[in-house]
Amino acid sequence: MSALFSNLNIKNVKFKNRVGMSPMCQYSSVDGVASDWHMVHLGARAVGGAGLIMAECTAVSPTGRISNGCAGLWNEQQAERLAPIVAFQKSFGAVAGTQISHSGRKGSAATALEGGSHIAESDGGWATVSPTGEAFDPDGTRLWKAPRALTTDEVSEIQGQFVASAKLADQVGYDLLEVHCAHGYLLHSFLTPLVNQRADAYGGDLRARARMLLETVEKVRAVWPEGKVLAVRLSVDDFAEGGLTTQDIAQVGQWLKERGVDILDCSAGGAVPAARGAIGNRTAEQPRLAGEVRQGSGLPVMAVGGITDPHHAEELVASETADIVLLGREMMRDPHWPFRAAKTLEAETRHVLAEQYGFFVGG
Ligand SMILES: Cc1cc2nc3c(=O)[nH]c(=O)nc-3n(C[C@H](O)[C@H](O)[C@H](O)COP(=O)(O)O)c2cc1C
Repeated sequence: MSALFSNLNIKNVKFKNRVGMSPMCQYSSVDGVASDWHMVHLGARAVGGAGLIMAECTAVSPTGRISNGCAGLWNEQQAERLAPIVAFQKSFGAVAGTQISHSGRKGSAATALEGGSHIAESDGGWATVSPTGEAFDPDGTRLWKAPRALTTDEVSEIQGQFVASAKLADQVGYDLLEVHCAHGYLLHSFLTPLVNQRADAYGGDLRARARMLLETVEKVRAVWPEGKVLAVRLSVDDFAEGGLTTQDIAQVGQWLKERGVDILDCSAGGAVPAARGAIGNRTAEQPRLAGEVRQGSGLPVMAVGGITDPHHAEELVASETADIVLLGREMMRDPHWPFRAAKTLEAETRHVLAEQYGFFVGG
């Protein structure tokens, strides 16, 4: 009996297996509105049998995007375009999730496909904001501009944008909502001492730096239906001296648990240029760290980073290191990875792929 292909129930949400697609920016939105590409990108993984499909980081405001091609969820038009995509995913038994986000000082960039350099306001970029005023990479070659430090009033304004986005996500039909607090974007910038040097109530020790995240999550939980899953993606290690450690994140996880968060999504890095985020040279360490956070926080976790081998994925779940495994790039290579994994693990294969395929090739 495969642990990877066992069910998981969290609140009223049933995951048919423990395989998820990790959120990945597609740079294929216009004015934050999804395109046909999203139907194919997300829909194909539902056909391929993933139990959870995470949409890319989706901005809570126009200036919360990373680039002009990024997804957004701040208006009805965006919600209306996403609804049929989500309905399609759910019709194949996948849990549809989205990740709401604010880019902070890493916003106003060209898409990764176009080199990712910072874009000046005169070229269609925008002024960026952060807990404090230092640029992401003041000495780098990508011309990151200095952000403006947010005032206390602006902090609560941005929290309100997360709340509005959460309401729209519910309306769209998502069953899992993830607050993005990783990779050096705004909420992570508040949490990490590598960026947050504020002197007000949002800066200082770990509890004070966590205030932005905890307040945001409390407000989001208040509007996100009780029966649906609330997740937070964290950089569980800053991978930089003086930065956040897994012990810090386990503590933050306990605070998040008290505020009604159901599961933590454990990524790492990204706060400063020295520590590459998401797909750096230490990505493969992340699943082990996820297990440490699971133990220390008392919350279920999603593990991500360098997972390609079905036996590795199986082991992560079977050993209770992780409750769900997320695959990013490997799902790009093979949208039918869950089917391949089921075959390798000698799990039931007949019903992994959508019936239109599974009937003919599933057995
Ligand atoms: C093209 C691309 C876009 C990504 N966009 C996001 C994103 O929107 N939000 C996020 O939290 N992580 C993002 N990531 C990180 C992935 O979710 C994942 O954590 C990372 O790729 C490591 O997993 P992997 O080794 O299975 O690819 C992105 C990664 C890639 C390759």
